[in-house]
Amino acid sequence: MKRILFLAITACIFLAACTSRQSCQQSCHDKGVIKTAVPVRPSGQTDALQLKTTPLPTVRVAFIGLGMRGPGAVERMTHIAGVEIVALCDVEEKNTKKVNKRLEEKGLPKAQEFFGDTAVWRKVTALPNVDLVYVATDWVSHARIGVQAMKDGKHVVIEVPAAVSMDEIWELVNTSEQTRKHCMQLENCVYDFFELTTLNMAQQGLLGEVIHGEGAYIHTLNGLWNSYWNDWRLDFNRKHRGDVYPTHGLGPVCMAMNIHRGDKLNYLVSMDTKAVGIPAFLKEKRGEDAKDFRNGDHTVTLIRTENQKTIMIQHNVTSPRPYNRLYQLTGTKGFVNKYPVEGFALDSKLIDPEIAKDYPNLTAHGFMPNEVRQALMEKYRHPIVKDIEEKAKQVGGHGGMDFIMDYRLIYCLQNGLPLDMDVYDLAEWCSLIPLTEISLDNNSAPVEIPDFTRGAWNRLNGVKFAE
Ligand SMILES: NC(=O)c1ccc[n+]([C@@H]2O[C@H](COP(=O)([O-])OP(=O)(O)OC[C@H]3O[C@@H](n4cnc5c(N)ncnc54)[C@H](O)[C@@H]3O)[C@@H](O)[C@H]2O)c1
Repeated sequence: MKRILFLAITACIFLAACTSRQSCQQSCHDKGVIKTAVPVRPSGQTDALQLKTTPLPTVRVAFIGLGMRGPGAVERMTHIAGVEIVALCDVEEKNTKKVNKRLEEKGLPKAQEFFGDTAVWRKVTALPNVDLVYVATDWVSHARIGVQAMKDGKHVVIEVPAAVSMDEIWELVNTSEQTRKHCMQLENCVYDFFELTTLNMAQQGLLGEVIHGEGAYIHTLNGLWNSYWNDWRLDFNRKHRGDVYPTHGLGPVCMAMNIHRGDKLNYLVSMDTKAVGIPAFLKEKRGEDAKDFRNGDHTVTLIRTENQKTIMIQHNVTSPRPYNRLYQLTGTKGFVNKYPVEGFALDSKLIDPEIAKDYPNLTAHGFMPNEVRQALMEKYRHPIVKDIEEKAKQVGGHGGMDFIMDYRLIYCLQNGLPLDMDVYDLAEWCSLIPLTEISLDNNSAPVEIPDFTRGAWNRLNGVKFAE
């Protein structure tokens, strides 16, 4: 009898503990989270998930922004069959003419030229003979051009970050949904060989369930402020606190975690250091007392997802550190890491026995030998890379990933397939820019990351690149 009583009391205590833990999880999630406005989807408009458009056997491309990044994109496109480069645009006449000369030297037809002022791009998006507008201008002009391009009936792809405020992000989402035009952010890091291979490994279950991911943009740009960017990038960091360049780190991790394809980003908290590096640069090189400089040297952001996973993203463009995008995936069965050294940690029993034959006792307590990792890299090479790896390496663009991105974009447009990255990827990844700023200005308070699909985040079952 005593024993039954004891068991009953224990069960009651256990149940009470469970209930209170559940209710705490619920209320803690809702309580104290800062929310930004989510515009109501206009009636008659539907989401643009898996958007398919009329196949375009020939894709006529117009480029806007031909500074450091743009000309390389034009060059890569000359290596893709079925692409016609029909228009080139930059504020600077010399930039436009230089790229057009390059086309001529390659024996290609000259493109129509546009230059002269910051509004000249309006003529480009309005051209009747353009299918795709490729935008590589500075950050603050991206969304405006993107929205107008879609309104003018063009698909648009925009360099990172494609938008820098919540208003811009929602306008891109709404315009893509309304016009049924593609709006893709040119996030090339999704297409790096290591990222694609490990995405494939994750999708094939080798890592178990990916429960934590890390990414970063740690790249000291101190040597470049004066030479390249006419100050627009520095100015943005001066005026804004937060992770102002999150997409290289976040994009590949979101892909491996199936964000808005079965999971969603729920909220973030962000913390930063004081600003030292760029103000010191401004003092030394320009004698400026940059007391108003907002962005800290190092920003760390934590994100929690609906399926109770976590992501850590870092930003630092000034400290003397080696280049690092981190890219780590922690799974329930294994671990992969890209920077500073590529490594896989997996049990031998999870690996193809042929590959593990000389290493029967590998455990995830340590990185596996290089030869085993190389063999796994071969075995799990992503299907979209198989036919074009060699060409991608020849054409280049960050070792080939830029070419794979452009190639996939054109392939999907030519075949009327959904693009690999949609407007919701753009929205989620760019939203860190305004949302980390809100968190930092509120003592690292949690800030909600809206569901940009407005209810459809769970409709798709995982990331699938169309073939
Ligand atoms: N994905 C990557 O790996 C990667 C690498 C470098 C840069 N980027 C991105 O590419 C974009 C461009 O960077 P960049 O380094 O080439 O900058 P940049 O300043 O060198 O080039 C921008 C060009 O856009 C032109 N421009 C600006 N406003 C314009 C307008 N209204 N109309 C027409 N032309 C205009 C400028 O004259 C300039 O030539 C940025 O978003 C940057 O973050 C991405």
